[in-house]
Amino acid sequence: MLYERRLDHPVAPPLPPTLEHGWLDRSAIARLAGATEQGPGDLMARVDRGERCFGSLRDGRVVAARWATYGAVEADYLRIGLRLPDGDAWIFDSWTDPRERGKGVASEASAALGAALAAEGTTRFVVIVMNGNRSGHAAVLRSGYRPLGTLTTIRTSPRRRAVRFRAIA
Ligand SMILES: CC(C)(COP(=O)(O)OP(=O)(O)OC[C@H]1O[C@@H](n2cnc3c(N)ncnc32)[C@H](O)[C@@H]1OP(=O)(O)O)[C@@H](O)C(=O)NCCC(=O)NCCS
Repeated sequence: MLYERRLDHPVAPPLPPTLEHGWLDRSAIARLAGATEQGPGDLMARVDRGERCFGSLRDGRVVAARWATYGAVEADYLRIGLRLPDGDAWIFDSWTDPRERGKGVASEASAALGAALAAEGTTRFVVIVMNGNRSGHAAVLRSGYRPLGTLTTIRTSPRRRAVRFRAIA
């Protein structure tokens, strides 16, 4: 499912802020390897492509992270390429430490990232949530996203898939 969140209609986080937020540097990103399905090489390849990782910290420890990028996007885990219109940011690979899940951390982090990227001129976030990822769908809806439609991917080569979008009627 493809979702959007418009930043010109700010959504207040459901709880008062409890975390510190900011862009992570390479060493902090390297320490995230293993937390998601990506290894250190994959994470550094993202950094080298200009993709940025936004972290949320409790007592100096990263408890949540999400990635952001613009323009011509390589969705490595889906093996698809997307071209985003100006003003859009693609937010991907959101993660909350399993010990912190279900407490609204993702909403607070999304609100903080919204403020950071709106200041750079971003007007909309888009995210993809895979079928069956119940926590992922719940977290984006809680964060103020709305569903736009479904994306279907079709394998075109071992490393590439074509993508078809069907808007919600
Ligand atoms: C998806 C994810 C980022 C949500 O983060 P979060 O900070 O827990 O988000 P929320 O607190 O808003 O909880 C979202 C939903 O997770 C579910 N949840 C609650 N407690 C949970 C727990 N202990 N463990 C797993 N999921 C839990 C609930 O469905 C909750 O929604 P609800 O409270 O409205 O029922 C997190 O579950 C995660 O890192 N998952 C693995 C990676 C992933 O799937 N990323 C999403 C890619 S789009």
